[in-house]
Order: sequence, then C-alpha cells, then structure tokens
Amino acid sequence: MSRRKFIAGNWKMHMGPGRADTLAQDLRRELLDLQAVDLAVAPPFISIPEVVARLRHTGIHVAAQNLHWEPRGAFTGEITAEMLRDSGCTYVIIGHSERRRLFGETDPDVNRKLHAALRAGLLPIVCIGESLEQRESGKATEVVTTQLETDLAGITDDHLPLVTIAYEPIWAIGTGRTASPPQAQEIHAAIRSWLRQHYSSGLAAAVRILYGGSVNHANAGNLLRRPDIDGALVGGASLKASSFAAIARAAGSGLPNH
Ligand code: 13P
Repeated sequence: MSRRKFIAGNWKMHMGPGRADTLAQDLRRELLDLQAVDLAVAPPFISIPEVVARLRHTGIHVAAQNLHWEPRGAFTGEITAEMLRDSGCTYVIIGHSERRRLFGETDPDVNRKLHAALRAGLLPIVCIGESLEQRESGKATEVVTTQLETDLAGITDDHLPLVTIAYEPIWAIGTGRTASPPQAQEIHAAIRSWLRQHYSSGLAAAVRILYGGSVNHANAGNLLRRPDIDGALVGGASLKASSFAAIARAAGSGLPNH
C-alpha cells in the first residue's frame, strides 16, 4: 500500500486576515511546482476566506483548527462543520492537545466532532499524543491507543479511509524537542497495529499517520523516511512560507511509504 505524503501547517492563533493573505501568497509561489505531496494549511477561522481565495486552484487545501459537533443552535462562539465546508475548507483538525489541555476537550468530544466532520464531508485530522509524564512512566503506547478507542468509536470501514491521524507527543509541541525518528516510528507502528486489530489490514495500511511536534526543515527528512510516518503536522515552522516549503520538499524527495 502506497501512501502519499501529507504535510499540514497548523497556524494556531497566528495570522489575521491580512497576514494570512500574505503568507498564502508566499506559499502559492513557493509550492507551485510541488505535486508529489498533499498539502494543507489551517488558518484561524477568521482568515479562512482569504486563504481559500488565495489558494484556489493551487492544490493546497485549507483546514480548520476546530469545529463544534452540533449542526446549529445556541452555541455562542462555535462554528459548525457545514459552515467550514461552505467556506471552502477540505480538512479539519480535531482534538489538538492544546484544545484538550487548555479548553477541556475530552475524547468523547473528539468522537462527536469526528462524526460531525464526516457527516459534512470534511476530512478530519485527529490528534493524539502523550504527556511527558506519561512517556516517562512508559505509558505512551497505552495512552494513544486508549485515545483511539474513544476518538474513533463508531467509525466504519467506509469512513476510516477519510481519517488522518496525527501523533503529536505533547512534550514535543513548541518545545524544540522533537521525538527521535525511532521514538516516533515506534508509536506510529503501534497506532497502525491498533488499526489492524479494529479494521482490515488493507484499511489500516491506507490510513495516513502524521507526526507533529517541533518539525522543521532540518529534522523532517529523517522523520519522513520512517515507514509509518506519512507526513507532518507543523506548527511554528509553518508560519514562514520558506520553512514550510522546505519541509514539504523534504517529504516530496523521499519515496512514498510502503
Ligand atoms: P510545533 O511544530 O510548533 O511544535 O507545533 C506542533 C503542533 O502542535 C502542530 O499541530
């Protein structure tokens, strides 16, 4: 099973409409010739229209960073999957550790959001990952597989191929401390093995598993060469077109995973 590499940039709470438009223009220029890799950027909600307009016909997709699971109603400050779809989003990030840690999002919330995204025709990127304390007590694999049990509950064979998983160890996010390629590969392999236990091996082999946490142009190549690392979810280094493009090119220069 060959999986196309996928590089996604999570702009987090950076880039209002004006700066987002400039960054999208720069990305358009830097990435025009890169066809071998799937690409997406996730601006803040308010900048989505500018980025969608600027990246139209480039093949670079736009993702949202969050959504609410209800289709409408009195949920002040929230955004539905349908609204994101209408605004031109293709993907949506769900369950980022910052949302879990800072905004109290739980695994059942992630599961509701995942189903809402799929109902609306959005492609979800589901984030999982352990804390430093959990890693140091030898629980990293157990933590991510426990997250998967609830996060992916009710996801059928038909829907699984639409789901991307992002392994983002919390201790590696924004710290400059990346998981080493063997550390990341070990967890990615455990995630794929969990998928094989719950779906067919063909389906498990088709799911893309991204790594996130201090990815930059210097470390991307070595991570992306590992057999179960199918791409990256990039935070800080996605805020400059040249560094995001360098990561995307590193992904494009390797062979697709088998
Ligand atoms: P950094 O690349 O800044 O560590 O952020 C990773 C991340 O959280 C992407 O979603």
